[in-house]
Amino acid sequence: ALERTLSIIKPDAVAKNVIGEIYTRFEKAGLKVVASKMKQLSKQEAEGFYAVHRERPFFSALVEFMISGPVMVQVLEGDNAVLKNRDLMGATNPKDAAPGTIRADFADSIDANAVHGSDSLENAAIEVAYFFPATDVYAR
Ligand code: CMP
Repeated sequence: ALERTLSIIKPDAVAKNVIGEIYTRFEKAGLKVVASKMKQLSKQEAEGFYAVHRERPFFSALVEFMISGPVMVQVLEGDNAVLKNRDLMGATNPKDAAPGTIRADFADSIDANAVHGSDSLENAAIEVAYFFPATDVYAR
């Protein structure tokens, strides 16, 4: 089914200058960028985005990392977009990520892991709305 998912290129990958290489992977897999912006997250925005992880031991390190530099936030649209994007990203820990995935190729650690992608269709809708008003998402 046609789906939308939220993708974030994290500060480590923005600093590595691989935004374009990552976008190319989305496009080659048939995912369309239907909304996009570069953004320096505030602490409050990062904490709110990752609120489900608030009680996890890695929460404060995750928030500090996510505000350490600008991120690229995009909505990807395509057939089976949520799972397709997760397949492109690879495992959360780059040590476990399959060869050829974004995290295997660009991530350095479980914290600096290059990209975020929504983990379910339900969360995708919540995460897209967190960053983009409906008028800033361009169906195409
Ligand atoms: P992400 O998909 O953005 O969702 C939460 C992030 O927390 C995750 O990617 C990792 O970068 C980070 N993280 C750090 N430690 C862990 C852990 N033990 N388990 C899951 N995520 C972790």
